[in-house]
Amino acid sequence: MRSAMPDRFLRAAVTRALPATLAAGSLLIGAVPAAVAAATPAAVAGSGPVVLTGQQLAASWTGPLSTRGRYIVDAKGNRFKLKAGNWDGAQSHYLGSGDASDPADNQAGEVSNNIPMGLDRTPIDKILADFHALGLNTIRLPYADAMIDDEGTVPDSAMAANPQLKGKTPLEVYDAVVKALTTDGFAVVLNNHTTTYHWCCGLDGNERWNKGQSTEKWEDDWRFMVNRYKDNKRVVGADLRNEVRRDGTDDPNWGWGNDKDEYAAFEDIGNKILEQNPDVLIIMEGINWQGIPQGMFPHGRPMLTPVRTLSNTLIESDKLVYSAHFYGFTGPNHTGASGGWQNGETNDPRYRDLSPEDLVKAVNDEALFVTQSGQHFTAPVWVSEFGTAGRGQTDAKEKDWFHRFTDILVNNDTDFAIWPLVGWADGNGTPNDNWAALAYAADGKRTGLEDTGDWRTADWNKLVNANGKTGQVAQVNHWNMLATNVADEDASATMRLKGDWSHGNRKGSCPDSERLIALGRGNGTGLCTDADQPAKDDGSWTTVTDERYVTHGDWAGGYNKLECPENSFAVGFSNDGGSMRALVCAPSAEPLPTKGRDVWFDHGDNRPASGGSTASDWAAGYYKGQCADGEYLAGVGFTWKWNEHGVPDVLLCRPLN
Ligand SMILES: *[C@@H]1O[C@H](CO)[C@@H](O)[C@H](O)[C@H]1NC(C)=O
Ligand SMILES: *[C@@H]1O[C@H](CO)[C@@H](O)[C@H](O)[C@H]1NC(C)=O
Ligand SMILES: *[C@@H]1O[C@H](CO)[C@@H](O)[C@H](O)[C@H]1NC(C)=O
Ligand SMILES: *[C@@H]1O[C@H](CO)[C@@H](O)[C@H](O)[C@H]1NC(C)=O
Repeated sequence: MRSAMPDRFLRAAVTRALPATLAAGSLLIGAVPAAVAAATPAAVAGSGPVVLTGQQLAASWTGPLSTRGRYIVDAKGNRFKLKAGNWDGAQSHYLGSGDASDPADNQAGEVSNNIPMGLDRTPIDKILADFHALGLNTIRLPYADAMIDDEGTVPDSAMAANPQLKGKTPLEVYDAVVKALTTDGFAVVLNNHTTTYHWCCGLDGNERWNKGQSTEKWEDDWRFMVNRYKDNKRVVGADLRNEVRRDGTDDPNWGWGNDKDEYAAFEDIGNKILEQNPDVLIIMEGINWQGIPQGMFPHGRPMLTPVRTLSNTLIESDKLVYSAHFYGFTGPNHTGASGGWQNGETNDPRYRDLSPEDLVKAVNDEALFVTQSGQHFTAPVWVSEFGTAGRGQTDAKEKDWFHRFTDILVNNDTDFAIWPLVGWADGNGTPNDNWAALAYAADGKRTGLEDTGDWRTADWNKLVNANGKTGQVAQVNHWNMLATNVADEDASATMRLKGDWSHGNRKGSCPDSERLIALGRGNGTGLCTDADQPAKDDGSWTTVTDERYVTHGDWAGGYNKLECPENSFAVGFSNDGGSMRALVCAPSAEPLPTKGRDVWFDHGDNRPASGGSTASDWAAGYYKGQCADGEYLAGVGFTWKWNEHGVPDVLLCRPLN
């Protein structure tokens, strides 16, 4: 969420954070731009979005959604590009001090009453019609965890324009909004935005998924939410947590294996959600901020950069979507604050300061590279927040950035979501928050992005009308990495049912639709694929820990060997600090060839010239051995001699047919 905190709150945060640890997250401060210029609503002629009715939108796609390579597709395999907006409010606009019901203590003077914005002013059908008129097909619906346990009812005044919702709790209102949106054809993404009811993204106690509450509570809450909407196939995604960032003292990390490891926590909860509801997309946003925002300390926005060498593997290989947020007033290393170092402003360029080439490069490096095909990390990337002030915008750089950024989204055919969709306007039609795509006055009168007087109209129309891929998307092979050096990575639903199947060792197993095809020479890294995947037989899987199945000759004399039983192929392994302990083998439905070849990688990489993930590194820092796409991994050789500690040295690769 775009941070825009009043000085009062900022000063408190800085006082708390200084001097030793100037917390970056607390200081992502954008100026609250003064709203100006009243406007009379009137449709912009010509190039506006194609406006569908609810029925037309509903008929245009079928849930649930899944992924094919970099594209999200519907249940029929047709491209479904997320053309989305953030309908916020259920996470609250409260700024954290003073009276939550006093506009002065809320973002942009707008009291959300912990429900989606605008329901006090406009009938929900009208709001949805306005979403259609923006050309949207998806709504990201932020909420606070607090909503789940909140038994208080929403004040009647908050439902003045929607009396049918009077007397409901915030969660019941959220339910009603989800129902109305999905009945009207929209896809809904549940977005775990904050823990407490709070306008996001300062030092507000909501920095990390387990800040102020346990990871278990986070998981329980997610299970509750995905079960609640399980039967509604237009509730398409679980957006795990908004803008994970540094709190006062600690950075979140990607792959350190501790309790601040976002990579491991997201994967764990993603799998638990899929076990409850295998239909939802699991949406993982990268790390929004790390470090102390001062010249002498490293600081910045890693976003998805660590995914290049450490990507996630879920039990369902077609459900992972990555996401990232971009605002012009922030930067790759800029907090977004203004007002000097005391306010957390750093001496780094903002995105809007970057040259066109540098902006493209930054957006690629931090996010869009993930869409490159055939890599371990390949997935759709959803820019689930971006935006800028419309009416009254005076910053030429900010306008220029918005032109250029929407060009990047168009050129890359990128899934997107504007922040925010709905705000308030005064009686003259002047928005409280001029970032909102739709602002409603107390009497319901709209001042919107498509109404005269908003300079963003042309860019928005360009974006929603962009030519991109449509229709059927071909199935693609998957390449998923196992990084048991970080944590157990048991991505096989079958093996997960077996619990601790290699006691005392780190366990890695491929999604049930894939097999093991490669290993790194140390610390338990591996690669899975479904290229030319053989059908599995119903028989039981074997966890091999000795040489009893080495029955077709000694293919690595003098080395220890783990070999799969005849007619089975490797789907997982366990190790202890990189030393091989077990190979997991699944039976093939058809007999498999028994003649193979050795792939040695004890003195260098041995990977096929073409094939899976050859342009990306799934075991950074280690030699890698990889079978060809048309082969299966039948055995692993290793040794304890020469101080080699039992790390893999050679693979036995055999053709699939
Ligand atoms: C949302 O995330 C917060 C913080 O990460 C967590 O405490 C909460 O349990 C989550 N709630 C849901 C419903 O996912
Ligand atoms: C800028 O941020 C990136 C990504 O977090 C980081 O790799 C880089 O070291 C940062 N630069 C500085 C000067 O802190
Ligand atoms: C995104 O588009 C830019 C041009 O705006 C291009 O240079 C870049 O390679 C594209 N990135 C990806 C990942 O396709
Ligand atoms: C291998 O893993 C161990 C334990 O996690 C770690 O201490 C070591 O640095 C890792 N080695 C490499 C080369 O990454």
